[in-house]
Amino acid sequence: MSRGASIKVRGLCKTYGSGARAVHALGPIDFDVAAGEFVSLIGPSGCGKSTTMLLVAGLEPITAGRVEIDGRPLTEPLSDVGIVFQDHLLLEFRTALGNVMLQQQIRRLDRDEQRARAAELFSRLGLAGAEDRYPWQLSGGMRQRVSIARALVHDPSMLLMDEPFGALDAITRTQIRHDLELLWLDTRKTVLFITHSIDEAIGLSDRVLVMSPGPGRIVEEIPIDLPRPRPAHLGDHPEFARYARRIYDIFENLGIYRFHRDRP
Ligand SMILES: Nc1ncnc2c1ncn2[C@@H]1O[C@H](COP(=O)(O)OP(=O)(O)OP(=O)(O)O)[C@@H](O)[C@H]1O
Ligand SMILES: [Mg+2]
Repeated sequence: MSRGASIKVRGLCKTYGSGARAVHALGPIDFDVAAGEFVSLIGPSGCGKSTTMLLVAGLEPITAGRVEIDGRPLTEPLSDVGIVFQDHLLLEFRTALGNVMLQQQIRRLDRDEQRARAAELFSRLGLAGAEDRYPWQLSGGMRQRVSIARALVHDPSMLLMDEPFGALDAITRTQIRHDLELLWLDTRKTVLFITHSIDEAIGLSDRVLVMSPGPGRIVEEIPIDLPRPRPAHLGDHPEFARYARRIYDIFENLGIYRFHRDRP
């Protein structure tokens, strides 16, 4: 089991392109994720969530500001990390197990140890028996579970997840959220989790960072003080409704939601 790594983000900005075609996509934003903490970023489409993840992973050049991992400035793509992208991005010509074992091949890790870890993750993620299936033979939920296994198999200290459950139905999302929470409780990796879902953010996080429309800023930081593991039906906690209300209110104040309360 690896300990989590800490993330520190200061004055982070991203502009794509230059001149007349420049798109100011993000920031400036500041935030921290402590080692072993589960933090969600929630915000409207286009506010810069995926951009934030790519900058933290070292996969896109930073326009201004800085990212530090465990106190060291980020200067190259992170390697001690597992990433789940917005789309599952499995290789269609590899089986489920073949996709997960990519990490072992690319990182030249011990094959037997990685196979054992893969087997454990397949079992914990409800994928037992699916090892030899190709992505097109898996449901959307199973594909997403395979991509989570691929992000975890090399035991990274940090997990970056970009809308990992975005394409899934509500029933599958609830189950996979719970499975991820249990895995996280056992491993305590540092997680930066990106979502559009208020339920998911509150259901999983120690802290939720709420972003404004693009170029996104962090407008509020909400610590979520609910016992774990959290129930399937979050509404069982009266405090849940209070947190959800707070986030809806922020979005409404930002003009992201326009509800016509006084309509007859
Ligand atoms: N490679 C790129 N080149 C130019 N503009 C880009 C690029 N990637 C993203 N953008 C722009 O940057 C802004 C932020 O995009 P980003 O993908 O980070 O948003 P997001 O919050 O992840 O949105 P969504 O919730 O829809 O996934 C958007 O205006 C987008 O059009
Ligand atoms: Mg995105």
